[in-house]
Amino acid sequence: MKELKILAVLVIFTLVTYIGIEPFAHTQLSPHTAPADFNYEQEDTALAKVRIEEAKAALTKAEANLAKQPDNENLAKAVQGAKQDLEARENDLSAYKTLWEQVNAISTLNGNAESGAELFVACTACHGLKSQGFEAPFDNAMSSESYGVVIPDLSLAGAVYDKKFLAALIINPTQALKLSKKFNDENPFPMTPFYGFGEDLNQEVADIIAYLKSVTPQNISDKETFDTACVRCHDIKYDAFYSPSEKSALKRYMGSNPPDLSMMIRSRGAEYLESFINDPQKKLDGTAMPRVGLTKEHTQKVINYLDKIGDSKKDERRNVGIGMVIFFAILAFFAYKWKNGVWRELH
Ligand code: HEC
Ligand code: HEC
Repeated sequence: MKELKILAVLVIFTLVTYIGIEPFAHTQLSPHTAPADFNYEQEDTALAKVRIEEAKAALTKAEANLAKQPDNENLAKAVQGAKQDLEARENDLSAYKTLWEQVNAISTLNGNAESGAELFVACTACHGLKSQGFEAPFDNAMSSESYGVVIPDLSLAGAVYDKKFLAALIINPTQALKLSKKFNDENPFPMTPFYGFGEDLNQEVADIIAYLKSVTPQNISDKETFDTACVRCHDIKYDAFYSPSEKSALKRYMGSNPPDLSMMIRSRGAEYLESFINDPQKKLDGTAMPRVGLTKEHTQKVINYLDKIGDSKKDERRNVGIGMVIFFAILAFFAYKWKNGVWRELH
C-alpha cells in the first residue's frame, strides 16, 4: 500500500504543477489579451479603448507622484507627457471611428467589377496582378530600393484579405495597417491612399474590391497564402523560402529585422500567432510589424503552413508519446508483480 501512497503523492504534485502552476506562470509572462477578432472594426475600437484606459491610469499615477513632490521638474514633465499620450490615444479612437464609419458605408454598396477593372490603374501603378497578365511595374531590386519592400502581387488579395479591411486599407493604408505612429506627413507610408477619380469615392472603392474578388482563383493553398501575406518581409529557411526584399532596405524601412518564421509555431504557439497577425499592436505595443488583415480562414492557412514547416513531426511525436505511456503502464504492472513475488519469499 505504501507504494500506492507514494504514487498518489507523485501524481498529485505533477497535476498541481501541470494544471495550476504552469498556466499561471504563462499568464504572468505573457499578459492576457482578448482573442483575435476578425471583425476589424470591433478589434480596433476595443483596443483603442483599452489604450485610453491605460493612458488614464498612467496619468493618475504621474499626478499622484507629482503631488508628493510638487517642485520636482521631472515629475511635472512626466505628467505633461502622460497628458499628451492620453490625448493621442483619444485621437486614435476617434480616427478609427471615422475610418470604420466610412468602411461600413462602402460595404453597403454593390461593387461593379467591370468599373473596378478600369479604376484598377490606380493600383497597377505599383502592384502587379499576374493572374490577369499585369506584371509588377518594378523589378524586385528597384521596388526594394524605392519602397523598402517588394510590393506584393494582388492576384490573391480579393480572397485572402477581409473585405472590410481592404476598403479601410485602400482609403487609409497607414491606419488600416496600424502604423500611424511611425508613418505620417513627414515620413509618408509608401502606399498612397486612394483619393478616387472624381466620381463617388465610396462607390469606386467598392468597385475595385469587386474587381479584386472577381479575379481571385478558388482553392488557395496554405503556402500561397503565406506567399501573398508574409514572405515579402519574412524568410522561412526550413522550407528554403526566402523573402525577395533586400534585407538592409527592409530594415531601414521597418526599423527592425523581420525574424525568420521557421520555428515561430513552436516558440509562440498558434493562438499567439493568430492574435499577432490580426493585430500586432495588441500583443506588442509599438511593434514595427504591420497588421495583416486576413480573413479567419486564411489566417488559419498561414498557421497551418507554419505548423507544417516548424513542427512537421508533431503527429509522430504524439503517437510515440502514447506508445510510451502504454509501454510504461505494462512495465509498471509487471514490475509490481515481480516485486510482490520477490518480497513474498523474503518475508
Ligand atoms: C505608390 C504605390 C502604391 C499604390 C498606388 C498602391 N499600393 Fe498597395 N502597397 C504598396 C506597398 C509599398 C505595399 C507594401 C507595404 C508593406 O508591406 O509595408 C502595399 C501593400 C498592399 C496590400 C497588402 C496589405 C497587407 O495587409 O499586407 C494590398 C492588399 C494592397 N497594397 C492593395 C492596393 C490596392 C487595392 C491599391 C489601389 C487602390 C493599391 N494597393 C495601391 C504600394 C502601393
Ligand atoms: C511589411 C513587412 C511584414 C509583413 C508583411 C509581415 N511581417 Fe511579421 N514582422 C515584421 C517585422 C518588422 C517584425 C519585427 C517586429 C519588431 O521587431 O517589432 C515582425 C515580427 C513578426 C513575428 C514575431 C513576433 C514576436 O513575438 O516576436 C511574427 C510571429 C510574425 N512577424 C509573423 C508574420 C506573419 C505570419 C506574417 C504574414 C501573415 C507577417 N509576419 C507579415 C514585418 C512584417
